Amino acid sequence: MAAALAELRFPMREIQKLSANAKTQRYAELVREATSLLEGENDFIAGAANFSALVFHSLPDLNWAGFYLLKGEELVLGPFQGKPACVRIELGKGVCGTAASLKETVIVADVHEFPGHIACDSASNSEMVVPLIYNGSLLGVFDLDSPLIGRFDEDDAYGISEMLVVLSRSLRAEF
Ligand code: SME
Repeated sequence: MAAALAELRFPMREIQKLSANAKTQRYAELVREATSLLEGENDFIAGAANFSALVFHSLPDLNWAGFYLLKGEELVLGPFQGKPACVRIELGKGVCGTAASLKETVIVADVHEFPGHIACDSASNSEMVVPLIYNGSLLGVFDLDSPLIGRFDEDDAYGISEMLVVLSRSLRAEF
């Protein structure tokens, strides 16, 4: 109780800094977990499936986490955790297709404000999509959805990218 009261005395900026540090530490742990889970295996589907499960069951406030893989000129659903999702997404469409076209991470605080957002699960309110790049070429994207508005920030983008580096090492790719 005394500790909780003491925390309440921190100004808002301090609280945000503390929680950002906790998030960074959590991602450092997850990078270690991903390393022991994925090392020694080079089957992409197996690694990507376990990667999705690790993220989905380790991070709070997610309702979907998984891969869309580039096949020809479109993204096709890959290993994921969450409710069934749309199978094919054109490049440039939705949050996934936008991140894929730009080859950049896209964070959407409120998906209802994002033009062309593809609603697979009505529970989703915010989204982050990280592209997977191999030797400069797009392999696909890793997509995270949350029921919370504004769930994802730069710490999440950095943390998930670090985790994807672990997946890339085990698959000899570079994300
Ligand atoms: N909302 C995504 C589609 C994929 S689902 O969220 C799983 C989009 O707009 O690209």
